[in-house]
Amino acid sequence: MIDAVGVPNSILLLGGTSEIGLAIVRRLAGGRSVRVVLAARQTDRRSRAAEELTAAGCTVETLDFDAHDTDGHAELMHKAFAGGDIDVAVVAFGILGDAETAWQCLDAAVEMATVNYTAAVSTGVALAQRFRQQGHGAIVALSSVAAERVRRSNFMYGSSKAGMDAFYTGLTEALRPSGVRVTVVRPGFVKTKMTDGMAPTPLSSTAEQVADVVADAVRNRRELVWVPAPWRIVMSVLRHLPRPIFRRLPI
Ligand SMILES: NC(=O)c1ccc[n+]([C@@H]2O[C@H](COP(=O)([O-])OP(=O)(O)OC[C@H]3O[C@@H](n4cnc5c(N)ncnc54)[C@H](OP(=O)(O)O)[C@@H]3O)[C@@H](O)[C@H]2O)c1
Repeated sequence: MIDAVGVPNSILLLGGTSEIGLAIVRRLAGGRSVRVVLAARQTDRRSRAAEELTAAGCTVETLDFDAHDTDGHAELMHKAFAGGDIDVAVVAFGILGDAETAWQCLDAAVEMATVNYTAAVSTGVALAQRFRQQGHGAIVALSSVAAERVRRSNFMYGSSKAGMDAFYTGLTEALRPSGVRVTVVRPGFVKTKMTDGMAPTPLSSTAEQVADVVADAVRNRRELVWVPAPWRIVMSVLRHLPRPIFRRLPI
């Protein structure tokens, strides 16, 4: 159970090597002996993440997770919940890819749609079944400000995150009667391996700043958060700009 001050006893991280996801786990665990399930592809990165969390006092389990294997996602959840209740599940997997390749190369487009949207839905449905049975817990879904108004410069990524964002926003409503909370998180540019080599945009943040906002959202049962917070105001303006003006913006 998540205690009165928002500390969970167990966390499932889907995308168990995500820099943002791992920062959220560290922040939620806060150095306590929390059970952490890292669901990720079997890589050195996953081993390092498990070692670091173990050194920080967590009890870590690893599970093999491939976003493409939608047939295996129900079984993955079965394994994750076999060791006991999961208090918080963080959906942190995703790809950014190359924006121009993503809309011109069929394989790249399908890959992005599959990982960022289809697999996010598949894992979301499987998570929802488990959390409804459990009757408590929180799901944190890492969306993006790119989902709010899709722009020319990265519309394939934006469209995949828009679909994912809409699904988890709907799930927020669908799971509310069962006592399960869903938080959709919309960060701007975050400096992680996903954005390595890219110049930070205005209102960028660190993985730790995203983690602080998520911890507060879990504690205070917030359903939608932007990181940093001013993105909410910026996006409420951008969302309504006429298209001829929007397309001239340097974003
Ligand atoms: N960084 C940003 O600027 C930013 C901004 C807004 C939203 N977000 C979103 O935040 C989330 C986390 O991003 P991040 O910055 O932490 O990126 P990251 O460190 O690159 O993490 C991405 C994660 O996705 C996993 N992944 C990719 N393809 C997969 C597949 N086919 N099967 C299973 N796992 C797969 C990676 O696993 P491997 O280690 O196996 O590759 C890794 O765990 C993503 O959904 C991203 O879209 C990021």
